[in-house]
Amino acid sequence: MYPGETTGTPLFPRPTFLMCPPRFFDVQYVINPWMEGNLHAPSYALALTQWKHLHTTIESLAEVLLIEPKPALPDMVFTANAGLVHHNLAIVSRFRCRERQGEEPHFRSWFTVEGFTLAELPPSIPFEGEGDALFTPDGARLWIGHGWRTDLASHEVLRALLPCEVAPLRLIDPRFYHLDTCFAPLPGGELLYYPAAFDAPSLASIEAFYPAHKRVAVEEADALRFACNAVVLGTTIVLNAASSQLLETLEAHRYTVHQVPLSEFLKAGGAAKCLALRLS
Ligand code: ARG
Repeated sequence: MYPGETTGTPLFPRPTFLMCPPRFFDVQYVINPWMEGNLHAPSYALALTQWKHLHTTIESLAEVLLIEPKPALPDMVFTANAGLVHHNLAIVSRFRCRERQGEEPHFRSWFTVEGFTLAELPPSIPFEGEGDALFTPDGARLWIGHGWRTDLASHEVLRALLPCEVAPLRLIDPRFYHLDTCFAPLPGGELLYYPAAFDAPSLASIEAFYPAHKRVAVEEADALRFACNAVVLGTTIVLNAASSQLLETLEAHRYTVHQVPLSEFLKAGGAAKCLALRLS
């Protein structure tokens, strides 16, 4: 019996996400290339408008719960990094960068109050939650990104916690430092991804798993628009922006795409998917 085994009543039977209002959002330090040259560059008013637009869009498709933002934790808005949820188990993140470690107790107590069973990695193993850990739609495989934030050693721990296969992917481009910035498994079995973000053995395992007709490879320009950083629910994809070519490809695969501009959050290195954690 794994701690993450699917038994008992789910806490959230309906599709549910966790978001954090951007009250204290800003770029106050540099921990990824997007933040460079962008110290205090985000407009609070515009960030709030954009976040509300995203919130309304996701709320039209699913339930959205909120965690209270905390002062001096400007990246707390990126709830995808709170942890990884599997059924009623929450594996709480251990941030690599000191700048974000102050978020851990707030997310931990939120998961506790909501009734999740908690699991943690040893303090020496950074793991940045759903930002670096994405399930295939059937839940049979968890893809883990490592190389920048999450440590490769997290795989062994996750394997012991979760009743699924755990497959590592090495990220090599510092602009795509979390797996969810360049990789999005879609419900119809397709993969939306930016191939140049991965090393050769990782690309080989992606290609071994996804047949060519299921792989939607994006160009660098779309990757830089955070097109892979998508919230996906059923046949709906919510993302910052995509080229008309990519929109056509996704429509040909029968997806409806909602573009929600998130320019202020891109200055911190995040977009739609980073701003919402899947809880169900
Ligand atoms: N500034 C944040 C960081 O560098 C952005 C996090 C983006 N989150 C994500 N899931 N990709 O940690």
